[in-house]
Amino acid sequence: MSSPASGDLGGGRILVTGGSGFIGRHVVADLTAAGAHVRVVDLQPHADPAVDIVIGDLAEPEVIEASLQGGADAIVHLAAVTSVLRSVEHPELTHRTNVTATAALLEAARVAGVRALVFTSTNAVVGPMEDPAISESSRLRPLTPYGATKAAAEMLMSAYTEVYGLRCACLRLTNAYGPGMEAKDSIVARLMRAIRTGARFEIYGDGRQVRDYVHVSDIVAAMRLALASDSWRGPTVIGSGTSLSVLEVVDAVKKVSGASLSVRHGPAKPGEMPAVIVDTSRARAAGWSPRYDLAAGLVGVWQEWSHAEIAVRAGGPG
Ligand SMILES: NC(=O)c1ccc[n+]([C@@H]2O[C@H](COP(=O)([O-])OP(=O)(O)OC[C@H]3O[C@@H](n4cnc5c(N)ncnc54)[C@H](O)[C@@H]3O)[C@@H](O)[C@H]2O)c1
Repeated sequence: MSSPASGDLGGGRILVTGGSGFIGRHVVADLTAAGAHVRVVDLQPHADPAVDIVIGDLAEPEVIEASLQGGADAIVHLAAVTSVLRSVEHPELTHRTNVTATAALLEAARVAGVRALVFTSTNAVVGPMEDPAISESSRLRPLTPYGATKAAAEMLMSAYTEVYGLRCACLRLTNAYGPGMEAKDSIVARLMRAIRTGARFEIYGDGRQVRDYVHVSDIVAAMRLALASDSWRGPTVIGSGTSLSVLEVVDAVKKVSGASLSVRHGPAKPGEMPAVIVDTSRARAAGWSPRYDLAAGLVGVWQEWSHAEIAVRAGGPG
């Protein structure tokens, strides 16, 4: 594959696991537009019927085999149990998908001669903040099966990078948002849904917990750099670099939508990190910088939600 400066992936064969999901659909569209031959493997069909897809569970050996049939130059590995709360409810499924399937994918990739793998990790590998900001050198102390299994996958990738020369870049994403997140249960999607359905929005805890929000196009830009450049290996923190409280996100969504929103406070969720403040210097030194802050990024998201067909709940705010 050629350099990112050319923007051309030169016919490279790229397997995108989880390519039917929220981030995956953006990655597939971007890589295809840049000239790559993209294949998706996912439990779910892809929204675009023209996409080359293997439908199945990555934890099944024959699904991995079919996905790599004909070879691949690189893999973008997104398929995972992605919800922290679901991981708490289903730790075994989370391990099977996030660790066992990842280990099998790495081994099949090694045998197939794949050169690079870009993995979507998370700052949840770190757990409670011990430094003023989370960086790649922060100690790993995950609080949930989600964080623990992502950390385990990163460890496997470290070994495959060092021993077998399969270069793995682990992008530790903060909270992703952007167009196409109708199926998600993260805060931006829940807020948009509450506005459109007239439901009351539940804030978990006091709402003062801070988080960093990164736009999906900025994530895709980081993936493009990570695919193209040998200097991207091991963990790299990808976030906007500005943390906002839940209360501030509620205000930002109210402002962009011009809608009123009724909120109530509920109990904090188990495994929630008290704060996420990230240091993105490593990514910036490697040529990446985010284009969107939350206020700018929400404009396109609200445009989409304001036009979406959504069943409005009878009975108004709940
Ligand atoms: N969205 C975020 O805020 C965020 C933050 C940090 C990291 N990440 C990571 O980024 C990746 C993509 O996240 P997303 O938000 O697009 O999630 P998503 O849930 O929208 O997409 C995940 C896709 O993986 C597929 N999948 C799950 N298990 C599979 C299996 N066993 N076999 C084949 N396919 C399987 C799902 O069907 C889905 O299409 C995930 O690895 C997630 O952990 C996301």
